Amino acid sequence: MELLQPLDDEQLNRVYSPILSPLAWDLGHIANFEELWLVQTIGGREPLHGELGHFYDAIENPRKTRGELPILRDAELRSYLADVRERTLEVLEEVDLGADAADPLLKEGFVYEMLLAHELQHNETMLQLLQLVDGYEPVGVNLGPTAQLQGAESEMVAIEAGAHEIGAPARGFAYDNERPRHSVELAAFEIDRTPVSNGTYIQFMEETGAEPPLYWERDGGGWALTERGGRDPVDPAHPVLHVSCHEADTFARWAGKRLPTEQEWEAARPRLQHVGQAWEWTSSDFIPYPGFEAFPYREYSEVFFGDAYKVLRGGSWATHHSVMRPSFRNWDLPQRRQIFAGIRCARDA
Ligand SMILES: [Fe+2]
Repeated sequence: MELLQPLDDEQLNRVYSPILSPLAWDLGHIANFEELWLVQTIGGREPLHGELGHFYDAIENPRKTRGELPILRDAELRSYLADVRERTLEVLEEVDLGADAADPLLKEGFVYEMLLAHELQHNETMLQLLQLVDGYEPVGVNLGPTAQLQGAESEMVAIEAGAHEIGAPARGFAYDNERPRHSVELAAFEIDRTPVSNGTYIQFMEETGAEPPLYWERDGGGWALTERGGRDPVDPAHPVLHVSCHEADTFARWAGKRLPTEQEWEAARPRLQHVGQAWEWTSSDFIPYPGFEAFPYREYSEVFFGDAYKVLRGGSWATHHSVMRPSFRNWDLPQRRQIFAGIRCARDA
């Protein structure tokens, strides 16, 4: 709500891009997801708005259609958010979230963790859209990356060949696609200690004629960032953001390297610097780990498995720290550039 406080109802309802939902949809969807899992499934209550939930189903309603849906708006939307949260807190009083809870949704508070994570992940999606809102300035939130990458960029970390444990441990909150934890054999490899900077990306663009990242525009002899209607010079020391997986891959080849696999990324994670500035594209397709079991619903991960999506690891400046588990697997279409994604390269040792 703090993020959206500077906006009026017209801005909340406006469709800024066919690949991003209007903010009012995200808000209603966050509340509806909470209502569905906690208030209805766990609390056994009837839905507050009957069949309305269908319009907030992310699978049934692709992003390009969401502006047209008869969703809740304005004052009605705000009171729905408040009503759901009130009921959620009521249900919380009634349930046992202990380690012995019989319902796997309740055991160790899974369903609450899932809803918190869901809301936090939607904050990032909303920030993707907020980059398109001219003059948007949030209160009390810093936007954009902060890392200074000068100097360290050419360093690589060597990881020895051997077995590495990949995935989330059996206990503690994680999504189904992060489990089960399993061992993989990796050949020796090297991986960049830091993400790729804007300065190095500019060098790559100049040498190859590659397109600039999303939101970059020519500004005299240099480049300017145009997010939120701004025109700030590109900081060469910041990590590059808003490149597609294809562009990340082309960059890596130009640098004499390649993108890491997600297993390599996870194995090297404790040795890497500046994780959490930009999501990092990997060369891995989003596929299930051996022994995968869908939980608590197929539509979270399973329906996305296959070769259409590439895995991203780490997190961006817009990602809440609790979402940035080492085992967390983000996924998106390889041509996408609106996400806060950058590059870290690897190579065979
Ligand atoms: Fe969602």
